[in-house]
Amino acid sequence: MPRPTRKAAPLGLVLDPAASEPLHRQIGEQVRHAILERRLAPGQRLPSSRLMASELDVARGTVLLAMDQLIAEGYVVAQAASGLSVATDLPDDMLMAPRGQPAGSTAADRTAAPSLSRRARTVLRDATPGFGFEEAPIAFPTGQPDREAFPFALWARLLEREWRQPSWTVAGAPHPFGHAGLRTAIAAYLGTARGFTCAPESIVITNGMRQSLSLLAWLVLDPDEAAWIEEPGYVGTREALALAGVRAAPIPVDEQGFSVERAIDVEPRAKLAVVAPAHQFPLGTMLGLQRRLELLSWAERHEGWIAEDDFDGEYRYTGRPLAPLRALDRSGRVVYLASFSKLLFPSLRLSYVVLPDALVPAAEQRMAMVPARASLIGQGALARFIADGHLATHLRRTRLLYAARQEALLAGIERHLGRWLESAPDSAGMHLVARPLAAIASGFDDRATTVAAAQAGIAASPLSACYAGRRRRHGLILSYAGTPELEIDRACVTLARVLRVQPR
Ligand SMILES: Cc1ncc(COP(=O)(O)O)c(C=O)c1O
Repeated sequence: MPRPTRKAAPLGLVLDPAASEPLHRQIGEQVRHAILERRLAPGQRLPSSRLMASELDVARGTVLLAMDQLIAEGYVVAQAASGLSVATDLPDDMLMAPRGQPAGSTAADRTAAPSLSRRARTVLRDATPGFGFEEAPIAFPTGQPDREAFPFALWARLLEREWRQPSWTVAGAPHPFGHAGLRTAIAAYLGTARGFTCAPESIVITNGMRQSLSLLAWLVLDPDEAAWIEEPGYVGTREALALAGVRAAPIPVDEQGFSVERAIDVEPRAKLAVVAPAHQFPLGTMLGLQRRLELLSWAERHEGWIAEDDFDGEYRYTGRPLAPLRALDRSGRVVYLASFSKLLFPSLRLSYVVLPDALVPAAEQRMAMVPARASLIGQGALARFIADGHLATHLRRTRLLYAARQEALLAGIERHLGRWLESAPDSAGMHLVARPLAAIASGFDDRATTVAAAQAGIAASPLSACYAGRRRRHGLILSYAGTPELEIDRACVTLARVLRVQPR
């Protein structure tokens, strides 16, 4: 019987062109295996994609597709000068004790600081440049709402009222899902503000989006199963999935946002889609109704799950918001995630997940094991803040404030930065992305610009840091919500000084 044509190649890869599995996935899986078995050592250089393609007799694009996926998953790193190499800190090692080679056995390990673990050195190397945590920037701090607008005196009174004579529910043994009164207040708020009903018993208060998403991923995926994430997207999403020990498959978004059709092409076996349909982060797209229905239909047909990150859906300035996926969900496959970080203040560390009923019992067991649940200190006060209508008032006030700040930023970009950057109005959100003009785009380095801006007191964030894969667009994420209008104009003048002297 004739054997199928098999091609042997560098790294010991054997491809089967007759197999139903596409070639790029065969390459990716075999390289991942070789890395996990330490046949390819951490830090080891990989042959160039051109060489691999010619020896495997496949198109170079096929090898690049496989490598992009491995880069996104953290198994391979791309360095401009030296090409591709095996990551020194493998994703699997982040989650379990190192196997095989002990740390310090590769050349890269030996030359680096002996007192740090490999994973610590990797996060140091990949850290997004910018502001130190102690300094208050002059403008554009990422994820920060306006501090002046929040009624802190009222907040202090609400805290005091509760803590002078704390009840068992706040000072005793906490429920693993958090304060019952807060969960009731959130359920009522979601009914009026977001148009869907849910039982307070299905709401879990968490200490942030990462905890919410890693809880969900832990509940519905096993280690090494995959979740689709938006590319570019929020770094916290990737970190949360890594915490839960599952794989992230980045799906490039287009002008209409996330496409389930494209996602199936990239990773057909994913069981979870993590999306921000109301306002994609950081690009700002609103997912259209057709795409929403396609995603819901995928979840229903394949018993998949959808994590709906509604991180700033409250701030919509023009146009009608679409109903959240959760409001359209007929089969109990959508998990709604939201946070008070951007609505009130981020150090509150209160976020929440609305679970489908089917996940509640297992989530209770899981949350009981979680050591760092959300603190109960602010939860009772927040329950009163919502129930007494202060949240609605605060949102009405800040919506007007932020709409004016977005206009001020657009004007500042046009007036002072128009030689280098451009941006467009966004109908929602708390930030804008300023992209380099075509004439300078090829030489524009958003990380270097961010570092230089930070030295001048401006807290811009690099767009390229939102990408998991190798194809990254550069730009500056400028969060206007926490910066008064007058400061916005001055900050644009400062940023112009920074850009004028940036090498290109
Ligand atoms: C896209 C996105 N999701 C969620 C969050 C909320 O995160 P957390 O609740 O951990 O503060 C943020 C905050 O910046 C965000 O940008």
